[in-house]
Amino acid sequence: MNKFKSAVIGIVMSAVFAGTVGSASAADENPAIKARQSLMQLYAFNLGIVGAMAKGKVDYDAKAAEAAAENLAQLVRMNGPMWPQGTSQSDEGLKKKTRALAEIWTTYPKVTENGKQMIAAADSLAAVAGKGLDSLRGGLKDVGDSCKACHKAFRGKKIK
Ligand code: HEC
Repeated sequence: MNKFKSAVIGIVMSAVFAGTVGSASAADENPAIKARQSLMQLYAFNLGIVGAMAKGKVDYDAKAAEAAAENLAQLVRMNGPMWPQGTSQSDEGLKKKTRALAEIWTTYPKVTENGKQMIAAADSLAAVAGKGLDSLRGGLKDVGDSCKACHKAFRGKKIK
């Protein structure tokens, strides 16, 4: 790699880390909270594609189903850095910014069980999503259940 390129990458990386590490308790803009909420939106978007097929709202398309399920299987593996200590709904200044319950951290590593369940379910879905509508439907339930189980235990009400 030439010198210029590595210098540019260095600058970009320090900008990335300056924005995330060390700002966990900043009450205003918290990039970790925003990042994990965005990640959840990506889960929902991709799950929505196969969900709509399962419900018969759009025609089943093996390739599209497989692609969405593959996306989900990759997305659900991203997590740790987006959940720093001090970013729960009970932390100062954050009650309207996040719905993450303090139990995520106080009962840790319980939440990782939910995460593992979701990964297993998403992998199973990815394996069957392109194999016909019935297979897709069969694989979908466990994924939906894994989302719900974690939300029930670790996601609080929206506070306005
Ligand atoms: C391991 C626990 C866990 C699992 C599994 C999980 N979620 Fe979440 N989800 C949360 C928590 C905690 C929040 C609140 C995050 C916050 O506000 O900081 C959340 C928030 C959300 C949101 C709102 C995001 C926003 O913009 O505020 C959506 C949508 C969502 N989840 C969808 C899903 C879907 C779909 C699945 C399953 C594929 C899923 N979640 C699986 C814990 C989980």
